[in-house]
Amino acid sequence: MFRNLTEAYSMALEDYLDGAGEAALLQAYQLGRRAVTERLGVLEMAAIHQEALVAVLLKMLAPAENARVARSASEFFSEVLAPFEMTQRGFREANAILENLNSELKQRVENVLKEYEAARDALEESKRLERMKNELISVVSHELRTPLTSIHGSLELVLRGVESGGTAGAGSLLEIAYRNSRRLVRLVNEMLDMQKIESGDAVFEIRPTDLWPMLGHAIEANQAYAEQWQVRLALEGEVPRVRVAADPDRLMQVLTNLLSNAAKFSPPGETVELRASTSDDRVRVSVTDRGPGIPVEFRPRVFQKFAQADPSATRPREGSGLGLSITKAIVDRLGGRIGFESEIGRGTTFHFDLPRWREAGDEVDAAGVSRWQLPF
Ligand SMILES: Nc1ncnc2c1ncn2[C@@H]1O[C@H](COP(=O)(O)OP(=O)(O)OP(=O)(O)O)[C@@H](O)[C@H]1O
Ligand SMILES: [Mg+2]
Repeated sequence: MFRNLTEAYSMALEDYLDGAGEAALLQAYQLGRRAVTERLGVLEMAAIHQEALVAVLLKMLAPAENARVARSASEFFSEVLAPFEMTQRGFREANAILENLNSELKQRVENVLKEYEAARDALEESKRLERMKNELISVVSHELRTPLTSIHGSLELVLRGVESGGTAGAGSLLEIAYRNSRRLVRLVNEMLDMQKIESGDAVFEIRPTDLWPMLGHAIEANQAYAEQWQVRLALEGEVPRVRVAADPDRLMQVLTNLLSNAAKFSPPGETVELRASTSDDRVRVSVTDRGPGIPVEFRPRVFQKFAQADPSATRPREGSGLGLSITKAIVDRLGGRIGFESEIGRGTTFHFDLPRWREAGDEVDAAGVSRWQLPF
């Protein structure tokens, strides 16, 4: 491009010097303009002009002189252009350094931004935890205060009666106080249990556990409670003769919580059904009732601590709403999963899946004890 331009420029210049007049000058001028629009610098333009001029003059000289002048012209140019090229190289190098600095700066800004975002997330998380803690404290205080107020009130009445010499009705007041203190003890125990499971302090002794007798024991152990609600508990269908990887006491706790809920929410005269099935590596246990179902808007909170659906919609409120959160925490620790299906007015089925016990040499995929082996 540079070469073409030089030639065209020198031709125009030669024409002009030959006397072609204004038109040739205009042609040279336009070539100069084009060079500038094609981003040649002023120095480069000057070089083109010089070279064109020399080329024209050379043509006009005698041929013998031609070669000598051409050589000295070329020497002259290389000398003239050397500093300019150096400057250009200098610019290029400076530019590269600036680009490096720029990208380094960009990287640093990105790092600082990332650090800022992480700090902001941590702050949000700690605010969220703080909010959760405050909520929990207010719920717990409320749960504790209700039975405590009742105990306090009952004992106060008994005391007044004793002071005034009359003890009539003391028995039933003490009965109320006793019932509430039992509720209080249960609540505190459940909260401690929950905390131990969640913090990982609770020891889970995971071992091969025969499912079938376990389900039978669970029904026996909860039948009396269910009878209070005039509900029957029954084992339905064939229970597969398999073993699960579980801590038997904790498994019993899970079954008790689900069976007692199902009984509590069943209408009198109904039957709660317990059944089990297996897939390749899992065992599913389900508890089905024909109660009122779980309100749709409450479903996302079923496993939350202290969460209870509107009591007026079901039975009079009983319990603290900790049962299912403990149940879920236990199933999680056993490496299982819990879920439910519910239909308003028709009933609810809670089910949980546990890892099936594998034979010798295999590992248990339950959380907690991961390398239990059969002792043979
Ligand atoms: N089978 C069920 N049918 C209908 N609602 C249920 C059923 N199981 C649980 N629920 C709803 O979920 C809530 C939470 O159950 P959860 O077992 O955690 O607490 P609770 O039974 O009320 O009290 P706790 O178990 O501490 O004695 C219940 O209060 C009830 O509203
Ligand atoms: Mg319960």
